[in-house]
Amino acid sequence: MSAARIALRGDLLDFVAAPARADRDSPAVRFRPGHWLLIEGNTIVGAQLAGPDVTWRRIDHAGKLVLPGFIDTHVHSAQLDVIGSWGAQLLDWLETYTFPAEHRMVDPVLAQQGSRLFLDALLAHGSTSAVVFPTVHKASVDALFEGALERGMRLIAGKVLMDRHAPKTLCDDIDDVDGAERDCHELIERWHGRGRLAYAVTPRFAPTSSDAQLAMAGRLLASRDGLYMQTHVAENPDEVRWVAELFPKARSYLDVYERHGLLNQRSVLAHGIWLDAADRARLHTLGAQIAFCPSSNLFLGSGLFGWAATEDAGVGISLASDVGGGTSLSMQRTLADGYKVQALAGTKLSAWALLHAATRGAAQALGLSHEIGSLEGGTVADLCVWDWAGSAVARRRQQVARDLHEKVFAWITLGDERDLVETWVAGVRRHRRDGVR
Ligand code: GUN
Ligand code: ZN
Repeated sequence: MSAARIALRGDLLDFVAAPARADRDSPAVRFRPGHWLLIEGNTIVGAQLAGPDVTWRRIDHAGKLVLPGFIDTHVHSAQLDVIGSWGAQLLDWLETYTFPAEHRMVDPVLAQQGSRLFLDALLAHGSTSAVVFPTVHKASVDALFEGALERGMRLIAGKVLMDRHAPKTLCDDIDDVDGAERDCHELIERWHGRGRLAYAVTPRFAPTSSDAQLAMAGRLLASRDGLYMQTHVAENPDEVRWVAELFPKARSYLDVYERHGLLNQRSVLAHGIWLDAADRARLHTLGAQIAFCPSSNLFLGSGLFGWAATEDAGVGISLASDVGGGTSLSMQRTLADGYKVQALAGTKLSAWALLHAATRGAAQALGLSHEIGSLEGGTVADLCVWDWAGSAVARRRQQVARDLHEKVFAWITLGDERDLVETWVAGVRRHRRDGVR
C-alpha cells in the first residue's frame, strides 16, 4: 500500500540558516504564506502555492501559522507536580519540593500515568521533540520511552544518576557502582535507537554524583555510538561554590564533567549561567551545547545567562522550559522570557534568533537537523498549526504589525499554548484543540 499523501495549507515559517541575533530582516528566514505543505507517510516531501491534485488529501488551515514542532532541550517529566513552588532557590527547591515529587515515581503505575500526562502535555504545548530527565527509577525511564514510542516522538532521555547528597531512597547504591551501570546498559539495549528514541547518560549534576559514579557515566557514554549526555551546570551561585568545595582539583564546575569524559558534541548542559570564558572555549572545542532555560532562571532567581558571550564563543544554544523549575511548557512563553532575560543582560534578541533556537538551531545542536527542526523536504513531518492571535489584544497587535518580524515577535510575546490548533508527529495528527473539528 502506498503511503498516505496529505497536503496541509497555511503560512509556512521555518529557517534555512542561522539568523544573526539582532537581524530583523534575515535571509535565514523562509516564509511561504498560503502554501501547501506536502507530506507522504511520515515525511515532508515539498511545498507549493498551487493546490495539489486529487491524489492528496487536503487539510486547509489558510490564515494560520505553520511551524516545525518545537524542540524542548531540557525538561523534567516527573516535575509537573512542582511547577510554581514558592519561595526557594535551587538547592532548597530540590530538597523541599523536587526530591519528594520524584520519589513518587518509585511506583511504576504512577510513573506510567505521569509519563503519559507529560508527553500529552508536551504535544498540547507544541513541542514534538524533547531532551528529558525522568527520575532515578528504571520504571520511570521505561514509562517515558514507551509513551514516546507510542506517540512516534523523537525523544532523548536516560536514567538519572545520583549516589549522594539526595534522599537515600533516590540514590543509586554508592557501594555498588556496577549496579547502576548494569541498569543503564540494560536500558540502553532496550531503548537506544528504537523508533525515534535515543539514550542520554544523565548524571543529575556534579553534587549528587561521586567521582566513581561520574567515571562510570563517562564509561557508559563511550560504550556505544550515538549516546547523548545531559546534565546541569553552573546554574546557581551557591551550587557553584558547593561544587568547588566538593571537587577541589577541578578548575571549574564544567571541568568536573570534562575530567570524566562527559563532554562531546552530544552533551546538553542546562543553564551555564556562571561559566567563564575558559569554560566557554572548552565547550566550543568539545562541541558541547547549552540549553538556555530563562523561565526557570527567573523563577528560581538563578541569574542572567550570557547569550552573546556564549554565542560569540561558538557554542550552540537552544531554548528549554526546564519544567518544573520553569513555570510553563509553552515555548512561546519560554522565548518571551528569553527575550526579557537577554534584555536585562544587555542583548536584544530578534524573534528569529529566539525561534531558531527552539527549532532548527536546537536540531543542529543535537545533530538531528536532517530529521527535525524545519519544514524542509526529507525531514520528518513534525509540525504545529497555530493561530496568529488568540485574544482581541493579540488580534489588534497583529493587524497593526508593519512587517513579518513584528508579527512573529508579537506572536511570541502575546501568545501561549492556547494558540495551538493542531500538533502533527511523523505525519500523524496527535493533538487537536478542543472544539476544533
Ligand atoms: N540541578 C539539579 N537538579 C535540578 C533540577 O531538577 N532542576 C534544575 N533547574 N536544576 C537542577
Ligand atoms: Zn533541569
